[in-house]
Amino acid sequence: MNDMSYRITRSFRMEMMGTGLYRSLSAQYRKSEPELSRRFSEFARQEHMHGRLFEKLAQKTFGKPLRGDKFWLFMGRLTAFLMRPLSLKSKMKKLSAIESQAVADIEKVLSGSVDDGLRTVMKTILPDEKVHAGLYRQIFPSHEEKPL
Ligand SMILES: [Fe+2]
Ligand SMILES: [Fe+2]
Repeated sequence: MNDMSYRITRSFRMEMMGTGLYRSLSAQYRKSEPELSRRFSEFARQEHMHGRLFEKLAQKTFGKPLRGDKFWLFMGRLTAFLMRPLSLKSKMKKLSAIESQAVADIEKVLSGSVDDGLRTVMKTILPDEKVHAGLYRQIFPSHEEKPL
């Protein structure tokens, strides 16, 4: 698998997992945290849209569709299930770390020489990933991080 094909496939899987994970979280917190549940649902829609962009890119670049979307959606739901014992705060902290890593990865790809199609998709999804990465701090603003 070459670099481009690896990146597209891996990104597609992560987006599908994210979709399943955020969908589950949204369902899980619908009653207790309706506002947060709405945000999770919005994130799920965005991750799904990102997944579709990678799917289209794969179709255009390799002439064949990516497979396994159901499996990766399920893996996302499974992850949400396995995270159930954690507090909402620690779940969100973990998600924020993962999303921040995604932002860093995307910025790294964009800073190098990269295929035009992949660049376009990465640029499109970056603002959403930044919002996803920022949700934790928005909900749990940390006093320690305020400038002295
Ligand atoms: Fe995404
Ligand atoms: Fe995300």
